[in-house]
Amino acid sequence: MTQEVLVYPDKQVLVEAAFTLIVERIHEAVSQRQSCSIALSGGSTPQPLYAALALADLPWDQIHIFWGDERYVPASHPDSNYGMTKKVWLDLVPIPAENVHPMPTDLADPQIAAVDYDRQIVAHFEPAAGSIPVFDIVLLGMGDDGHTASLFPHTAALLVLDRLVTVGDKDGQPRLTFTFPLINQARSTIFLVSGASKQTALAEVFSPTGDATAYPSRQVQPQGELLWLLDAAAGDGLVRSTALKPNP
Ligand code: 6PG
Repeated sequence: MTQEVLVYPDKQVLVEAAFTLIVERIHEAVSQRQSCSIALSGGSTPQPLYAALALADLPWDQIHIFWGDERYVPASHPDSNYGMTKKVWLDLVPIPAENVHPMPTDLADPQIAAVDYDRQIVAHFEPAAGSIPVFDIVLLGMGDDGHTASLFPHTAALLVLDRLVTVGDKDGQPRLTFTFPLINQARSTIFLVSGASKQTALAEVFSPTGDATAYPSRQVQPQGELLWLLDAAAGDGLVRSTALKPNP
């Protein structure tokens, strides 16, 4: 794993840098493997990034979009990560419908939905028996509590190591989420973190003695590159405390 922390002056510059990086990684994947598989994060931080990607000239028929987690609500619900991404990005570009793989949230039992999405991922990648699919890009956010995807502190989902997708628990509300084994298989894992409210969790994630159950983002240790893209509001404390060099 190679890890890099990049701190940008503000959220706008952060989003611009993330856009440039993701476009670069998409072109790399397509030129090397004729396709690019991306797992998206939800929440509010990535929305301007998704809006920017809607304006990019990309090889849409060679890009496959998945979600790293999803609230267990219909796509029409205001909390739906798929619904948000569709509105600001995917409805605006000529990506083939079969290249967009939303997590199923219309089944009565989220456990069955998790198994279904697990199967969809395996069907797409057709990994060798016993091996874990390798996403080209996994985009992640981090909550104020240090969660990522829908892997929340002190929940059972953190311990699921024999499946690709499981059911997360946010204050009793079910969510679908990639498991750490799937996240950690990615070629390029990119965290996008913005805002002063993330400072405490970032300090715990980067602390040599932090608790990985209390701050699950610590468990993102991918076999590929791990890039933390932070704005100054989120990352300045980290730069001071760990002598990380701020991004020029
Ligand atoms: C979700 C996410 C989640 C998100 C963090 C940060 O479905 O909410 O995938 O992990 O990335 O909670 O969210 P913000 O970007 O809104 O701070």
